[in-house]
Amino acid sequence: MSKQKGRILTGDRPTGKLHLGHYVGTLVNRAKFQHDYDLFLLVADYHTLTTHPEKEDVIVTRQHAMDVVIDNYAAGVEPDKVTHYLQSDVPETAELTLLFSMLTTVPRLQRVPTLKDVMQNLHIEEPSAGLLNYPVLQAADILIVKGNLVPVGKDQASHVEVTREIARRFNRRFDEVFPVPKAFIPEDAPLLVGTDGQAKMSKSLGNAIMLSDDAETVRKKVMTMYTDPKRIHPTDPGTVEGNPVFMYHDIFNPDKAQIDDFKERYRAGKVGDVEVKKALAKALNEFLDPIRERRRFLEQRPDDVVDILRAGAARARPIAQETVAQAREAMGLTSPLTKEVIELYR
Ligand code: TRP
Repeated sequence: MSKQKGRILTGDRPTGKLHLGHYVGTLVNRAKFQHDYDLFLLVADYHTLTTHPEKEDVIVTRQHAMDVVIDNYAAGVEPDKVTHYLQSDVPETAELTLLFSMLTTVPRLQRVPTLKDVMQNLHIEEPSAGLLNYPVLQAADILIVKGNLVPVGKDQASHVEVTREIARRFNRRFDEVFPVPKAFIPEDAPLLVGTDGQAKMSKSLGNAIMLSDDAETVRKKVMTMYTDPKRIHPTDPGTVEGNPVFMYHDIFNPDKAQIDDFKERYRAGKVGDVEVKKALAKALNEFLDPIRERRRFLEQRPDDVVDILRAGAARARPIAQETVAQAREAMGLTSPLTKEVIELYR
């Protein structure tokens, strides 16, 4: 399964079903990368604990894990081409996180922009130590399998930066154990705005179109989408730039001629929002149809999904164990008391 171009590690927090933002931000690339790279995909259930630490949350998270895995395959990832596993099935990750947390400072982690965002969005007044350490856990995910490429959405760039710092610091301080991975944030992958025009599509903000939404749900969400707020009548000249309806058209509607025609007429006040939105709903539903079909197939085979994760852990875990052994060795933690200590002690 070793492919020439190197090893990719990326993952999803199992917070529920995935949406179009996940698709354009990362899923579409996984489907491409799986052919040439050794692709490791992780379901980050430890990460979910950073914001959802209650007992009930943990059970729900495990259900969500199933959905996340299914959505990956629905989006075109192929089970036999990747190594897909549950983060907590590789508990060595926790040890590496502990070791790495000595290599970064609290103020550095406090400056990671996602911390503030998550606290704001989820109304968390004081972060747990676990939440603060989120990027360090992510560094352990990536480095424990020696991933050298990390395809993620733009919002995750700061976490990959922390990962690079930790890898460099470890290698400098102890020994060359880790690659310094690169984030892969495709320039043409937009951070998809929400249907309400907010900067980011997010299920918790209620502005997402899910990969699993049925056609009618998609239609309804599109018809109530945020558009040019200054435009009241179809005869008012409208603004296309930054208008979510047109942003979505550009991404999901393969009929470029239709988009150009809409844009021209929209700017001139010669087409109503309803017509543009109807065409978008149609395009989105055509885009989602094959995804929905694959989704249905897997939903009916939950045992297969569990098997995929089991097989993934069986491959990932020995790799993780080997890496942690190397890290311990590099740090001088390999035996309870090293020879040098015994010499000194004598
Ligand atoms: N933090 C990522 C997210 O919220 C999920 C994730 C966990 C991840 N571990 C990872 C992504 C390692 C890339 C690499 O989307």
